[in-house]
Amino acid sequence: MPNLEKAGTFVLGDRPVKRLGYGAMQLAGPGVFGPPRDRDAALAVLREAVASGVNHIDTSDYYGPHVTNQIIREALHPYPDDLVIVTKIGGRRGADGSWLPAQSAKQLTEAVHDNLRNLGLDVLEVVNMRIMGDGLDPSEGSIEPQLSAVADLQRQGLVGHIGLSNVTSAQFAQARGIASIVCVQNHYNLAHRGDDPLIDQLAREQIPYVPFFPLGGFSPLQSSTLSKVAQRLGVTALQVALAWLLRRAPNVLLIPGTSSVAHLRENLMVAELVLPDDAVSELDGIAG
Ligand SMILES: NC(=O)c1ccc[n+]([C@@H]2O[C@H](COP(=O)([O-])OP(=O)(O)OC[C@H]3O[C@@H](n4cnc5c(N)ncnc54)[C@H](OP(=O)(O)O)[C@@H]3O)[C@@H](O)[C@H]2O)c1
Repeated sequence: MPNLEKAGTFVLGDRPVKRLGYGAMQLAGPGVFGPPRDRDAALAVLREAVASGVNHIDTSDYYGPHVTNQIIREALHPYPDDLVIVTKIGGRRGADGSWLPAQSAKQLTEAVHDNLRNLGLDVLEVVNMRIMGDGLDPSEGSIEPQLSAVADLQRQGLVGHIGLSNVTSAQFAQARGIASIVCVQNHYNLAHRGDDPLIDQLAREQIPYVPFFPLGGFSPLQSSTLSKVAQRLGVTALQVALAWLLRRAPNVLLIPGTSSVAHLRENLMVAELVLPDDAVSELDGIAG
């Protein structure tokens, strides 16, 4: 079993988490909709993650919907003391599995209560306000109404800390005028590096940056450079992609998603994988 401590820890909200975490989105059915094909396998992934030392799990009640949180509860409740569960609100699912915005104060309140009920919690430790933007990437515009609604839920004691997802630097700055922001979760990986300046800013301020789609998401990353480096180091291309993210900045926290215990193990092995400098330079060129 890898020693996750080797990848270091970083404070998320007010508690340290290991930099190698787990993203639970893949635990729902195909298309993140409905129940998984194999519920026992999904439970096993979560239990293996925690047994391996993972203490940061990312989720949302709109995965399934409800299914992923219910599986997390079944697998892990009562939760280990050191586990930080981060959820997100701001979306809902259509009857056909489509991803729809749900950003009104009423919808955000309902989403917080859905998360509390399905996770079996009295308070959500960290809630990311997911802004809709342009699908998987942000677009400019005020996020004041959503942030004020979440800040209100925080004042009611239902939300511990507030994070943001799918935001621009300007939106991050605006949000900080409304509430304390403890993390940002945006689309970023070896081949999708638009957030480099934001990562550097957050690193200076000691605020976690949590890339979603760290492996490329629904179509995992492929590149000849990645494969070449992986072959040289005797590891997989996706392990190299995760190791590069760990190396990118100390505030980058990983939440790779998988529905497979075997893949989970491969991903957690990255805690012990140190990329040589020449490999990092080669990989830096991929997005160029
Ligand atoms: N804020 C947002 O809008 C947003 C959007 C998307 C995701 N997220 C969060 O980010 C987390 C990570 O994103 P993600 O799961 O969508 O994408 P990802 O981590 O980039 O990649 C997941 C994909 O890679 C495959 N995979 C994982 N490990 C592998 C391995 N070792 N070898 C081969 N294939 C592997 C998975 O398939 P298998 O199941 O077969 O392993 C799955 O298809 C999610 O769980 C979710 O919590 C947030």
